[in-house]
Amino acid sequence: MHELQPDLFAEPESQAAEPALTRAPQLPSRKSHIELVHGDFLECAPARVADGSIDVIVTSPPYNIGINYSKYQDDLPRAEYLNWTDRWAAEAARCLAPGGSLFLNVGVRPKEPWGAWEVAGVFRRHLMLQNVIHWIKSIAIDKRDVGKYPGITQDVSVGHYKPINSDRYVNDQHEYIFHFTHTGEVELDRLAIGVPYQDTTNIRRWKSAGGGLHCRGNTWFLPYPTIKERAKDRPHPASFPPALPERCLRLHGLVGIRRVMDPFLGLGTTAVACARLGLDAIGFELDETYLAEARTRLAHEACKVKDET
Ligand SMILES: C[S@@+](CC[C@H](N)C(=O)[O-])C[C@H]1O[C@@H](n2cnc3c(N)ncnc32)[C@H](O)[C@@H]1O
Repeated sequence: MHELQPDLFAEPESQAAEPALTRAPQLPSRKSHIELVHGDFLECAPARVADGSIDVIVTSPPYNIGINYSKYQDDLPRAEYLNWTDRWAAEAARCLAPGGSLFLNVGVRPKEPWGAWEVAGVFRRHLMLQNVIHWIKSIAIDKRDVGKYPGITQDVSVGHYKPINSDRYVNDQHEYIFHFTHTGEVELDRLAIGVPYQDTTNIRRWKSAGGGLHCRGNTWFLPYPTIKERAKDRPHPASFPPALPERCLRLHGLVGIRRVMDPFLGLGTTAVACARLGLDAIGFELDETYLAEARTRLAHEACKVKDET
């Protein structure tokens, strides 16, 4: 049977409310300084980013799965792609502070399921893999599996995905977020993205342990915000939802972050999350069309933008 390649960043099939970006309670409100660089990360970063000056990197590189970007060719020979990955991983590791975190979002196509792990394997030459997080875009929950769970009265299926027409592959509804650090021992602020306990019978003990919150774990349900018109509302074939960089930044711990970096900025999603959290950031993007959209998005945020070519 003919198999259609999935559009990893497909339009919503179902409608879900945009997850609200909460403001950073830990930081005093301040205007972020966001630097946008139009150019190749590998060429531009050395002159603009000092060694160890970036506390958090949140990024999603081209996955080399034939995504239709307006400029970038996403179909390099595999060896060439992994070689390029090695070069930018080294540059990112140079920029990353000793206690910093690099969150690397990678997706695959069903025919090449090792792709994300190959990229992670290249990063292993430069950094330690501290956590593997699964970005869940859509999930189905059967009522019979949850029993008398409050609020779940029937089978539910939530989030957005595009079905794959295949008798070999199941629909692809997740991507990876690899969390790399220099040492593998960076302390995180787990409860900054914690989940409230639902069983309140032992709430007093739990409250003293974590303010009523427990660790969210490594499955993050982050559906794409609902949009009306793809070309206008999300003019990029491979962006991540704003809640993704926000969650990564909070997990690292907002206090003490001097500067955030995204080597592959796209529509500027990481920069927008930084502006909302009061953090400074620098981002690089090859394609002026995407960068223009990033500028438009940042114009709605309380931040100062510096443009560079
Ligand atoms: C997966 S997308 C990033 C999307 C972004 N996370 C967002 O939410 O919009 C990768 C981006 O990297 C850009 N790109 C590719 N090679 C680059 C390079 N060498 N330097 C800077 N940007 C590059 C592409 O134009 C594309 O927009």
